[in-house]
Amino acid sequence: MAEHPPYPVGLRLSGRRVVVLGGGQVAQRRLPALIAAGADVHLVSPEATPSVEAMADSGEITWLKRPYRPGDLEEAWYALIATDDPEANSRASAEAETHRVWCVRSDDADAATAWTPAAGHSEGVTIAVLTTDAKGRDPRHTAAVRDAVVEGLRDGTLVAPHHRTRTPGVALVGGGPGDPDLITVRGRRLLAEADVVIADRLGPRDLLAELPPHVEVIDAAKIPYGRFMAQEAINNALIEHARQGKSVVRLKGGDPFVFGRGMEEVQALAEAGIPCTVVPGISSSISVPGAAGIPVTHRGVAHEFTVVSGHVAPDDERSLVDWPSLAKLTGTLVVLMGVDKIGKIAETLIAHGKAPGTPVGLVQEGTTAAQRRVDATLATVAETVRAEGVKPPAVIVIGEVVRTTPRPSE
Ligand SMILES: C[S@@+](CC[C@H](N)C(=O)[O-])C[C@H]1O[C@@H](n2cnc3c(N)ncnc32)[C@H](O)[C@@H]1O
Repeated sequence: MAEHPPYPVGLRLSGRRVVVLGGGQVAQRRLPALIAAGADVHLVSPEATPSVEAMADSGEITWLKRPYRPGDLEEAWYALIATDDPEANSRASAEAETHRVWCVRSDDADAATAWTPAAGHSEGVTIAVLTTDAKGRDPRHTAAVRDAVVEGLRDGTLVAPHHRTRTPGVALVGGGPGDPDLITVRGRRLLAEADVVIADRLGPRDLLAELPPHVEVIDAAKIPYGRFMAQEAINNALIEHARQGKSVVRLKGGDPFVFGRGMEEVQALAEAGIPCTVVPGISSSISVPGAAGIPVTHRGVAHEFTVVSGHVAPDDERSLVDWPSLAKLTGTLVVLMGVDKIGKIAETLIAHGKAPGTPVGLVQEGTTAAQRRVDATLATVAETVRAEGVKPPAVIVIGEVVRTTPRPSE
């Protein structure tokens, strides 16, 4: 049997009986995929691991709490034989042969009539990798091939364009804080499939260099806006390219909806009748402090964190932030776009009751090679920013969490 390679096939098990003999580690590993395939799983085993037991308790599988008996495989379409009794396994395997039930054996691949591939999924595609002969089986290599293909498809390093389902339109992709590894796998794949990418200054700009030469990369900051507002010009560029039937990625820093004007773009596209997908991103508001060793919450220290825009000063009539109320909160305050106005912000917080000694951490260009962290207090932050030459982009964290880092104190 092993002289020929296996014949790969996809079993459609929905509603069909699958018998699993043995409730140990092998069953625990295989059952989730059988359940996901909609199989009517009957587990025959006197014992089961707690995870397998939980699947029975929740009704995902039917558990017959006893050892294997001849006749158990009669109604089965497919069987997984994985008890720790080799004798029972052989008898069950012989029964499977009699009833022509394809059967996998965990203890003896040579005696099995089917082998389980190393399987993975990516966007509607199942990748199943089989070793070609039982003697030369190298499960680690098989799994590594599966991982390479699945990972490559997910992160876009293996490009397999969707010919049938790919619809022109715009994907609003949150690119994360800057480190190219911190974009989501979906974002990276959409980027790999794009015809046009309109990118912001912030975010994973290194990824743009990896795009194939036919991809048109447009710097959002350089789109001429003439009689329009800059944002309107970006919206128009998105619409125009999508109308030409292109796949457009609007690559934004962090998450598109955290001070990213993402909804304005979604609305403009909806008005123009252009399909739009939003891919969330890792926001700098949490990830940048984290990358510099500042947790935005910490047990016993902060049970809340508030993310605020500091792009206008507290006394500016355009400000929508209730700074006096923020001064009364005990948790962490995270200020984005606040480097220029931090002096005024600190003054206002102190004036409304925050202790001048409240720690402040500033993290500039977080998650990039240029990341740096500067610590101060509310009383000293304005001077520290000047003296240290802290420049945007920076995330400013105000609160006791700044002191919780494992860094040795100076
Ligand atoms: C217009 S907001 C966009 C925020 C973004 N949508 C997000 O979720 O991270 C830009 C501000 O985000 C912060 N920021 C973004 N990326 C950063 C980074 N890598 N390091 C420090 N601050 C960053 C800065 O406060 C910057 O001024």
